[in-house]
Amino acid sequence: MYIESIELKNFRNYQDLQLGLDKGTNIFYGDNAQGKTNILESVYICGTTKSHKGSKDKEIIRFGEDESHIRMMLKKDGISYKIDMHLRKNKAKGVAINGLPIKKARELFGIVNLVFFSPEDLNIIKNGPGERRRFIDLELCQLDNIYLTDLSGYNHILNQRNRLLKDLYMNPSLKETLDIWDLQMVQYGKKIIDKRSEFIRDLNEVIQGIHRNLTGGEEHIEVLYEPSSDADCFEETLKHNRERDIKMKMTSAGPHRDDLSFVVNGIDIRKYGSQGQQRTAALSLKLSEIYLVKQKIKDTPVLLLDDVLSELDSNRQTYLLDSIHDIQTLITCTGLDDFVSHQFHINKVFRVVRGEVFNPVN
Ligand SMILES: Nc1ncnc2c1ncn2[C@@H]1O[C@H](COP(=O)(O)OP(=O)(O)OP(=O)(O)O)[C@@H](O)[C@H]1O
Ligand SMILES: [Mg+2]
Repeated sequence: MYIESIELKNFRNYQDLQLGLDKGTNIFYGDNAQGKTNILESVYICGTTKSHKGSKDKEIIRFGEDESHIRMMLKKDGISYKIDMHLRKNKAKGVAINGLPIKKARELFGIVNLVFFSPEDLNIIKNGPGERRRFIDLELCQLDNIYLTDLSGYNHILNQRNRLLKDLYMNPSLKETLDIWDLQMVQYGKKIIDKRSEFIRDLNEVIQGIHRNLTGGEEHIEVLYEPSSDADCFEETLKHNRERDIKMKMTSAGPHRDDLSFVVNGIDIRKYGSQGQQRTAALSLKLSEIYLVKQKIKDTPVLLLDDVLSELDSNRQTYLLDSIHDIQTLITCTGLDDFVSHQFHINKVFRVVRGEVFNPVN
């Protein structure tokens, strides 16, 4: 797929913007705080209904306005799609595909595939397990429509169970109802654990080659799934932990406590890796993401690169730029020097100045 155009109305610092994109590499450059990331954010919201930063709709609407609109025209397998998103201050957002309103975000996942890469992603290895779970969940939601349903189901039951654990203190007779929640939690939980382990198996097939190339053959990487409980014994674990859960007033085991570890040449780089090793592994992970989307969805995703080039050394920049030449890419940066020094082919250059976009070269 590729994006043909974007229109923004009262989105962040854009009052009214219309932008035609190239099928290849599109660069947005400009000083800090001019609105470069805001453009990538609008694309991400239009493709997933969520901000990559986790911002609320009312924060995204232009200051002093009540609503905001994003329209994205895209082409997939020769067919055109129009996606409209309508953000309102204290109401749910409205989403339409080709003029027809949709209820579930998952309807978009079949059409739009995006890979977002920001400098924060380079910290995924050294940061906490929550971010690694977020990575795996976002991936699986894109690759597998049913996963999102299972995950929402699991999170709903988890909240209910945790609330019950709190209420039990005042009302111990509620204890019997725990069995019902546990049963449902196990049903959803097992599916999530199975899908996550399958995903990590697929990921390893891809990431190992990428990482070896990226490190000039020096490093072998393995991603290990660390489930808080195995699928087969999840029911047992919940039972075993029950008294402790009641005492702690929360559910201590389950997919909401899973983690991933990254083992490079035999060491766990979450704890013992150098900063450079951690960032290289994060880059390998992102590049694998592009590859997996291509492989599973049989379509090329659009890559959104927010200011990452300046964070990488010259070899890694070259590797990244070489790996993305065949997909549509939207890149933000403060200057064009990195592209000039790599003689990287750019299809369209936009200069971003205070919520306006200029197209000086093309
Ligand atoms: N709801 C909003 N309404 C109006 N302006 C907003 C809103 N939210 C953010 N902004 C403005 O958008 C600008 C930031 O835009 P953005 O994050 O896209 O900058 P950038 O060009 O990516 O900068 P950097 O190079 O520092 O990353 C800020 O000046 C901020 O005040
Ligand atoms: Mg930015």
